Amino acid sequence: MSNSIIEKTEEFVREKLKDESSGHDWYHIYRVTKLAETIAEHEGADRFICVMAALLHDIADEKIAGTEEEGLKEVKLWLESIALESKYIDHIVSIISTMSFKGGNQSPMQTIEGKVVQDADRLDAIGAIGIGRTFAYSGAKGQLMYDPNIPVREKMTKDQYRNEKSTAVNHFYEKLLKLKDKMNTEIGKKMADERHAFLEKFLEQFFEEWEGKR
Ligand code: ADP
Ligand code: NI
Repeated sequence: MSNSIIEKTEEFVREKLKDESSGHDWYHIYRVTKLAETIAEHEGADRFICVMAALLHDIADEKIAGTEEEGLKEVKLWLESIALESKYIDHIVSIISTMSFKGGNQSPMQTIEGKVVQDADRLDAIGAIGIGRTFAYSGAKGQLMYDPNIPVREKMTKDQYRNEKSTAVNHFYEKLLKLKDKMNTEIGKKMADERHAFLEKFLEQFFEEWEGKR
């Protein structure tokens, strides 16, 4: 029974994201769902909740829904339309609403399933995939990949983060390199460490190539 719910939800999400170019395309969801399954198994978290929350985690993102509120409503309506038990609906919706809160002081995830899905989403922003997504996003936004004259922003408001011009390489310092210290689960931390090391290696070579040194 739960497998058919997962399949139907997968179809719903694929359809919603089919024209997405903000870094939240279907394959981001695919990868986060796979990561959530891997982490859930290690942590003994509920697989069904993790997979469902991973599949739906970006539907309430402001870049996809008009507002976060509308997005959350849509998730709820979807889960009701497939007649999911309300205790599951509440858990999934609470994971998604906590995760999508983008303000500075993020409240910690309340349940192990929430921790798993948040780790999975963060992992997809680092490592080889994270590098690829960052350059793709920057290109789509018309930003340069690097400009030595644009300083890394130490502190910024949500609006600055979204709308001020930056570069792909600055984004490493403004976000990507900070993620490994925010992981919730043990296996998530381990995976993040490996992906983090890859980011550092990439940057080191990038700057050497930039100066024609190798
Ligand atoms: P998330 O939904 O994971 O919080 P975002 O919506 O902030 O991520 O961004 C989606 C993808 O685009 C991520 O891989 C992220 O690192 C990348 N990205 C976000 N903002 C920028 C930016 N200003 N420059 C380059 N890449 C960015
Ligand atoms: Ni995401």
